[in-house]
Amino acid sequence: EEVAKRVTEIVEDHAGREGPLLLILHDVQETYGYVPGAAVKVIAEKLNLSRAEVHGVMSFYHDYREKPAGRHVIRLCRAEACQSLGGERLADHARKQLGLDWHETSADGAVTLEPVFCLGLCASAPAATVDGKLVARLDEDRLDAAIREVSA
Ligand code: FES
Repeated sequence: EEVAKRVTEIVEDHAGREGPLLLILHDVQETYGYVPGAAVKVIAEKLNLSRAEVHGVMSFYHDYREKPAGRHVIRLCRAEACQSLGGERLADHARKQLGLDWHETSADGAVTLEPVFCLGLCASAPAATVDGKLVARLDEDRLDAAIREVSA
């Protein structure tokens, strides 16, 4: 079918390169917004990996989605600098306010909550992105404002 054909092309584009899996996953997610199960199957076959191995790499890097995201995506930084400045409390707050755990999307399809590991804004921690836009010096008020914006 369609996904298998397109994904085969992507895999072939990267054939012969060193460590092609991440490049392939990146291109597949660019194409579909996530990595469909049918794509995992093709990638595993072509690279002689098991599907579990492909999934293992996807979850190790946190950047790959197994399902389509909602219309808006909030990504909270979970790396060290942000953690040390209240990131954990903010994460709890976000999960409670949204009623979502990591990688979940609200039932109305409005918001997906994702973790991210360092946005390069450590000096202005805690940091997040809202629909790809960086938000620094996050606190509960700013987080609530962002949540209101994307839930509207
Ligand atoms: Fe959060 Fe670097 S640790 S931006």
